[in-house]
Amino acid sequence: MEAVDRVISERLESGVALVASVSQYIITAGGKRIRPALLLLMAGALGYKGTQHHNLAAVVEFIHTATLLHDDVVDESTLRRGFPTANKRFGNPASVLVGDFLYSRAFQMMVDAHDMRVMEVLAEATNVIAEGEVLQLMQMHDSTLDENAYLRVIRSKTAKLFEASTRLAAILAKSPPEVEEACAEYGQALGTAFQVIDDLLDYDGETQELGKNLGDDLREGKSTLPLIIAMQRGTLEERNLIQQAIENGSVDGLSDIVHIVRKTGALEATRAAALAEAQRALSTLAYIPNSVYKNALHDLASQLLVRRS
Ligand code: IPE
Ligand code: IPE
Ligand code: MG
Ligand code: MG
Repeated sequence: MEAVDRVISERLESGVALVASVSQYIITAGGKRIRPALLLLMAGALGYKGTQHHNLAAVVEFIHTATLLHDDVVDESTLRRGFPTANKRFGNPASVLVGDFLYSRAFQMMVDAHDMRVMEVLAEATNVIAEGEVLQLMQMHDSTLDENAYLRVIRSKTAKLFEASTRLAAILAKSPPEVEEACAEYGQALGTAFQVIDDLLDYDGETQELGKNLGDDLREGKSTLPLIIAMQRGTLEERNLIQQAIENGSVDGLSDIVHIVRKTGALEATRAAALAEAQRALSTLAYIPNSVYKNALHDLASQLLVRRS
């Protein structure tokens, strides 16, 4: 991970002062670096011996960071990684354009792998993430979404980059197709669980730990799994209250809604949905030989379910 951070800081360089300051601002704020960690762990588990994994892990983190810069503009978010968002600090234009810089820098870097499959996987992932974000935009203020529509969005906007991270490790290690597919599925399932937990924490977390404002999803009129389940299980009155909040994008009723989400057992049901995805991730590890790396990939799936940040 230190090697990845070295690549990140080297490749953030730009002769344009604002590019350097915005990208430094968001990257040095930290972040869990979970996608690079997955790529390195999977590469280790598959016995990869080269150094391209450091480069590609940085690529994945750059793509992730670019999506966050754009996402915080779209979501009008003001807090990220415990600091004011880049859009809050530098404005929307700088955030959008530096996001573009990070995307295109990632594409420059991935060429270094000299592998068309690597390019293919990352081009596809970036495109699908963008589609997922647009799909979600179209569904804002729609209180009729069901679990399938929700899953379609999160598989695209979040799970796809997790999937790319673990698939890239298999491509670097020249693993056979069935192993590559198992790695990809591990990432996809883990990424889905990760976003389900993220959506749960928006109702059940602490701003201090999360480094993001709670209730942001409701304010955006975003119907996520905790609300979908609470609407299915609540009384007519409770359902109406949640529907209204989604349609108006209003957080006025947030504490009532949190109460309904708790009372209906929607929190536990959401956690159970994440657990099922985490278990699907674990089942794919059967294709991978035992090692300390595999143990870490195993532990990650359960740690992720209890994460608070
Ligand atoms: C935030 O991702 C966006 C989601 C997919 C939920 P992370 O939770 O990985 O963000 P950082 O990089 O750790 O800040
Ligand atoms: C994260 O989505 C952005 C992408 C996955 C592209 P969200 O909007 O749900 O995540 P946060 O809550 O802002 O981190
Ligand atoms: Mg957001
Ligand atoms: Mg968003």
